Amino acid sequence: MGELKDKDGDITGGVGGTVTSSVDVSLTPKEAFDVFADEIELALADRGMQIDRTGAEKKVMQRGVEVGTVKEWKPGERISFLWRPKTWEPATSELVITFSQHEGETTVSVEQRGWGHVVGSDAKELLGWFTGEMAAPLLQASSPDRLGDWITDRIARRPTGARSKDVYRNPLYHWPNFYAILDVLALRPEDHLLEVGCGGGAFLHEALKSGCTAEAIDHSREMVRLASETNRASLAGSRLKITLGDAGSLPYEDGKFTCAVMTGVLGFIPDPLQSFKEITRVLKSGGRFVAFTGSKEMKGTPAAPEPAASRLHFYENGELEDMARRAGFVYAKVEHPMLLEEARKAGVPESDLVMFKGAAFSQLLVARKA
Ligand SMILES: C[S@@+](CC[C@H](N)C(=O)[O-])C[C@H]1O[C@@H](n2cnc3c(N)ncnc32)[C@H](O)[C@@H]1O
Repeated sequence: MGELKDKDGDITGGVGGTVTSSVDVSLTPKEAFDVFADEIELALADRGMQIDRTGAEKKVMQRGVEVGTVKEWKPGERISFLWRPKTWEPATSELVITFSQHEGETTVSVEQRGWGHVVGSDAKELLGWFTGEMAAPLLQASSPDRLGDWITDRIARRPTGARSKDVYRNPLYHWPNFYAILDVLALRPEDHLLEVGCGGGAFLHEALKSGCTAEAIDHSREMVRLASETNRASLAGSRLKITLGDAGSLPYEDGKFTCAVMTGVLGFIPDPLQSFKEITRVLKSGGRFVAFTGSKEMKGTPAAPEPAASRLHFYENGELEDMARRAGFVYAKVEHPMLLEEARKAGVPESDLVMFKGAAFSQLLVARKA
């Protein structure tokens, strides 16, 4: 909900307007506070704003400029900031986030107080700001396009939130794929492995048991954090490095890795040829590459439901092989491994084994650099 009111509840003339946005959730105020505090930090970071805790006061920074100073941080109750929305002239507002309980629910409310002073004394300009910057984004956020994107990002394309953390800490239904990849890769202690789109780091954890060293990249802050927790010992022992970044622009020097892997990622990448080129570039001569992805037959099944299904790219075998060759691999072949035994080994419940009975759902691209 978004509102713009003066203290009598009317849409204001420019001065003193309070902008409010709120939601009711069936959580206790303490639970709501904890979720909000966790998620706002990542969401702000994705928008180029950081919460700086280094000094005596918590601050919100944007490109090195202090935008907000935390005045109150009361778990389960409220957070308030002195907010500085302008660098070009002195102007402040009070940003207050409250967590208030009523009838078993908690109302989480974000209020910009004194916003009319910031935008100016012209009521139409203030309403214009509210319409363009608050109301239109809310309408867009609740449209099928944007909501479908949000759900897809949230669960798979850029996983975020407590539920995704639970899933990717140990993604049961991905273990059959992990076993098939490890079988083909046959890792040795002298290998230096790259994983692109490492999610919560479960594959890395298993791969590192071979004695190899590894690096990984993912564009989800939440997943980089989780993969780091999952592999704390390997990170501490300098056997692993995990970086926040994009598959289309790998931050590694040429010829750094002996092998590379990508699983459950390819379908989400907007320019896979560019990613394949990047992977070829960072592989040593003779380097191996294995990519696991779902085939067209998977679209719309419980393994690839809507709204993610129509946002995923599915490829024919020939397309994948051709793309790999165009990216510079000399050998490229798609296999369709049978994963039923791997699914049993992973502990997939009997009732779901049907998802692994045929080979048609899985495509395993195996490629090699000259
Ligand atoms: C479906 S999850 C799979 C995670 C893990 N590989 C697994 O199988 O459990 C897809 C992962 O790829 C990451 N990803 C998607 N597109 C990416 C991109 N362009 N660059 C880096 N990571 C990406 C997501 O953030 C997410 O962690």
